[in-house]
Amino acid sequence: MGFIGNMWEAFKRPSIKYSLGILLVGGFVAGVMFFASFHFVMTASNDPRLCMDGCHEMKTVTEEWKKSVHGYNRVGVAATCPDCHVPHDKDIPGWFEKVYFKVTIGVKDIWHHTIGTYNTEEKFEAARYELAQIVTERFKRRGSKECMFCHKFETMDLEKQDKKAVSKHKSVIDGSTKKSCIDCHAGVAHEEPKEPEAKEPEKK
Ligand code: HEC
Ligand code: HEC
Ligand code: HEC
Repeated sequence: MGFIGNMWEAFKRPSIKYSLGILLVGGFVAGVMFFASFHFVMTASNDPRLCMDGCHEMKTVTEEWKKSVHGYNRVGVAATCPDCHVPHDKDIPGWFEKVYFKVTIGVKDIWHHTIGTYNTEEKFEAARYELAQIVTERFKRRGSKECMFCHKFETMDLEKQDKKAVSKHKSVIDGSTKKSCIDCHAGVAHEEPKEPEAKEPEKK
């Protein structure tokens, strides 16, 4: 019996109870079911309604977003929460980054929701400046990649932009300014939270 024959024997041979064939087919089906449900969770968790209606913590930022140019505008193209906040590169490292993001940030958000870290408007307002810094840092680290999924310098008609924008944008395009969108454009979907005033030192 040759190699193929041996393989075939192994394929048919019962493991203890089941043949390798059944185990393989069963494993394949289980795998497909796992990825289908994984995909469902990944897609469902990208539904912006989850952040808008799911958690009252997000009420203030959602209301602001609705009034911002990214929530309501002349051309009717809105950028939703995950468009800006969730990495969505189309390559494999990007896919891992997205999963990592969902597992870490998602779980953290659910945790803080459960323990009620920001369950009143006051608590949220008090934490807001710091939260904005965390988000801004993430944009900086990724070179404002999320903005550039929609806005691309190649398709920007600089002739239609005002002078101030053109000179800045040209300097970014030719590389003389090393900045990404977020460095010049904070507060494009929510009001930019103000830096809290330094607390008065306690009097003795
Ligand atoms: C889903 C696509 C999308 C994403 C992501 C996106 N934008 Fe926009 N952006 C738009 C659209 C659509 C408009 C409105 C165009 C209009 O009405 O003139 C706009 C408008 C703007 C404007 C013009 C503001 C104004 O007052 O006219 C700026 C600046 C801007 N975006 C910056 C950003 C930055 C910075 C990011 C990342 C933090 C970003 N955008 C992410 C689609 C997007
Ligand atoms: C070095 C600073 C700088 C960087 C970096 C920068 N911009 Fe701007 N941008 C400006 C200035 C200044 C204006 C004009 C004033 C304003 O709208 O804030 C402007 C205006 C705009 C406008 C409105 C144009 C108009 O005529 O209505 C859009 C859209 C925009 N920027 C998108 C982007 C995007 C997307 C990026 C990243 C790919 C980016 N900008 C990077 C400085 C910058
Ligand atoms: C156009 C891109 C964009 C969209 C769309 C967007 N955000 Fe943001 N978000 C930002 C940026 C940029 C910051 C960092 C602070 C700043 O510049 O406003 C931020 C900050 C935040 C913060 C930190 C607290 C704060 O006030 O800064 C929360 C929470 C948040 N976003 C939730 C949401 C939710 C919920 C939605 C959907 C209703 C949403 N974002 C839609 C770009 C966006």
